[in-house]
Parts: sequence; structure tokens; C-alpha cells
Amino acid sequence: MRQPEVNIGVVGHVDHGKTTLVQAITGIWTAKHSDEIKRGMTIKLGYADGNIAYCDSLNPPEAYTTEQVCPDGSESRLLRRVSFIDAPGHEALMATMLSGSSLMDGAILVIAANEPCPQPQTLEHFSALNIIGIKRVVVVQNKIDVVSKERALENYREIRRLLQGSQIEDAPIIPVSSLHKVNVDVVLEALYEEIPVPERNLAGDPIMLVARSFEVNRPGTPYKDLLGGVVGGSLIQGVLRVGDEIEIVPGAKVPVGKTSYKYQPLVSTIEELRFGDLRVKEARPGGLLAIGTNLDPSLTKADSLVGNVVGRPGRTPPVVDSLTIQYNVLERVVGLKELSKMPPLQQKEMIVLTIGTAVRVGTITKLSKDHMEVELKEPVATWPNFRVALSRRVLGRWRLSGWGIIES
Ligand code: GTP
Ligand code: MG
Ligand code: MG
Repeated sequence: MRQPEVNIGVVGHVDHGKTTLVQAITGIWTAKHSDEIKRGMTIKLGYADGNIAYCDSLNPPEAYTTEQVCPDGSESRLLRRVSFIDAPGHEALMATMLSGSSLMDGAILVIAANEPCPQPQTLEHFSALNIIGIKRVVVVQNKIDVVSKERALENYREIRRLLQGSQIEDAPIIPVSSLHKVNVDVVLEALYEEIPVPERNLAGDPIMLVARSFEVNRPGTPYKDLLGGVVGGSLIQGVLRVGDEIEIVPGAKVPVGKTSYKYQPLVSTIEELRFGDLRVKEARPGGLLAIGTNLDPSLTKADSLVGNVVGRPGRTPPVVDSLTIQYNVLERVVGLKELSKMPPLQQKEMIVLTIGTAVRVGTITKLSKDHMEVELKEPVATWPNFRVALSRRVLGRWRLSGWGIIES
């Protein structure tokens, strides 16, 4: 077994069958988290790792399988380990796509054949793929089991019309029943052909975006048996090895006096590296990596380090508390049924930025047609050219409203 090599986002309209498809391929039902919005967007990505394997005794597409053993009893050949990212909740998924393009190497766009296409979220995810320039896309025309042949063909034409003139005009469209596992082999073949493992920057300084942090000790574990805290996330460049020193920035929130606090970078040794149940000595980009540290587990518990960046000591990205962003607004407020037009952005407006896995509240201190300066309430480790998603308070709650690129 080897670590996941490629990350594939699974996107599409609500209930079109994203999670069912991931389950059909990996056997894993990606955990449902509440998509409640806390101070903006909480990103809880569901990762599920699966295999694309090949049976030499069969012809394609039947030769493509997720199983270790082929129908004739011979062993299949593992072609690729794939990590599927299934973000529950439409806005969290959109924010992830718009700010975390580095998290997805390609995508599956799931479109249910039993509804007219495009549905609103189909359109929004499709636009988001275009905005961030994800060109490696496979379209799954799902729920083929509940429509007539005529409807399936009509839906196929609707999808072709949607793709026409876009960067993914020629993406394959595969009729599938995820529920009954029909044509999953064709999907595997298309994923293998269309979404290759991208060239990774292995020589650069390692950078991991922290998406989870937790402690693994049971209550009551004696002190001497306590295991260090764990941070999980996506290594976007470089290589990490067991025994390496790491630094986590901005770090832990520590009180200063009674009323204020600061951020303290954390330094640790890597005790363990894991992808799910798979322990490795060395990790490269791809999949969701968990790092066992020797940090006090109280520092990592309950996702307290989400949004931090892990790197080598002294080689981490700068920690800043203000940003200059080149921004664009979305035409439509995400998550609203009606086509409500966005009121213009305001000087001094409070906004929420999603910066990779970090979510930050900020105030617009300077505003022009396409640039803004934002004063952040809490610092973030980031760098120029990183993408951000922008949420505004519209009709009583935070809604994803735009995206941008950090200039400084
Ligand atoms: P959200 O995460 O809520 O956006 O939904 P989703 O896109 O992950 O859809 P999910 O996989 O939860 O499926 C929604 C419903 O459609 C469930 O009741 C599934 O059983 C059903 N479903 C999914 N795929 C198929 C299919 O191929 N055929 C049929 N008939 N039903 C399907
Ligand atoms: Mg649902
Ligand atoms: Mg789902």
C-alpha cells in the first residue's frame, strides 16, 4: 500500500449523489458534519481514499476495479491511490474550492439525470472550477437508473450545452448509477486517464495546511503514557519525514495579561506520519496527512490548530495581520434561491476570508474597484498569490460572495 497520490474534489448540486458515488468507489461514506456557519465558514472536508486497480485478465473498461482480487481469482495491479474530497455543505465546498485550489488536482462534477441541468449549485460549482482553473474534470451523469433512455439523452445534451465554450468543454460524461454501482469501472478508467498525478514540488520547503487537529488519548490515560497532539491536513509541497523538526504558525493562542493574547509558534519533532491507517516514514503531497507530534495534546485538541501552516523551523510562510487582495465579486449570493443582486462592498465593512484552511474575520480598511486592504482580527500564515474566498453578511448571515488573490 502507498499513500494517496492525487486529490479529486467531488462537486455538484445537493443530493445529486456525490457521497454515494464516493462510497461506490471507496466503500467509505464520508462523514457528515454540520455545515453550520461559525464566524463564517467552517471547513470540514471529508476525505476518502480509494484504489484504481487493473485486472490484466480483462479488457477495459471491465479491467478497471477497486478490488484487490479480480473475478478470476488473480491479484489486481494497483495503478493509483486516489483521495476524494467530499465537502458537505454547499458554501463550505464553494469556499474550499475558491480558496484551496491547491487542495484539488482535479474534480468529478456529479449531475443527476432526473433533474433539469443545470441546477443552481451545479452552475456555481461549474463556475468555481472555471475560476480556479481546474481543467481535469470527469462529469458523472448520475441516477441513470431512475430515468428513461430519452431523458438520459436529453440530459446528456443539457450537460454538453453547459460545458460548451468552457475550459472543460471536452470532459467525458459518464452515465452512472452510484446507488446500484453501474459503470463505476468506466468512471475509474476516466479518472485514471483524465486526472494524472500532477508534478509536485518535492524540493521546495514543505508546507502543510492544517485542516484538523486533535488529541488521541483516552480520558484518564496516565501522564507517562500520553501521546502527543496530532495535526492533519494537506501537504501542498515538499516532503516530510519521521524525525523531522516542524514549526506550526501562527501557532497557539496564549494569554497576555487578563484581556489580550498572542500567537506562539509551536516547534515539534514528527513522531509519526499517517494517511488514514497507513503509517509511512516519508510523506509527499496527496491525500490527508496526519502528523503525530510531541506537543502537549491540550494544544491540538478540538481542532484548535485548524488554519495553521506547518513548515520547517525558520522556513514557514510569513504571519501577517493585514492583507492586500485583488478581488472579484460573484454575480449571485451563494446559497440564496432568488437571484438577489449583491449590494456594493463598503469601506469598514466586516468580512470573512477563507484562506486555504484558515477562516479569518477582518475589516475592509481600503477599497477600490478591484483591490481591498483588510485588517484581520487574528493573524494568518500565508503568502502572495494564494487564493482567498470572501464572505459577507447578507440577509442576516455570512454568505460566500467573492474570491480574490493575495497581493501582499
Ligand atoms: P449532499 O451532500 O446533501 O449535497 O448530497 P450528495 O450529493 O452527497 O447526495 P447523496 O450521495 O447523499 O445522495 C442523495 C440521495 O440520492 C440519497 O438518497 C441516495 O441514495 C440517492 N442516490 C444517489 N445516487 C443515486 C443513484 O445513482 N440512483 C438513485 N436512484 N439514487 C441515488
Ligand atoms: Mg443530502
Ligand atoms: Mg454528500
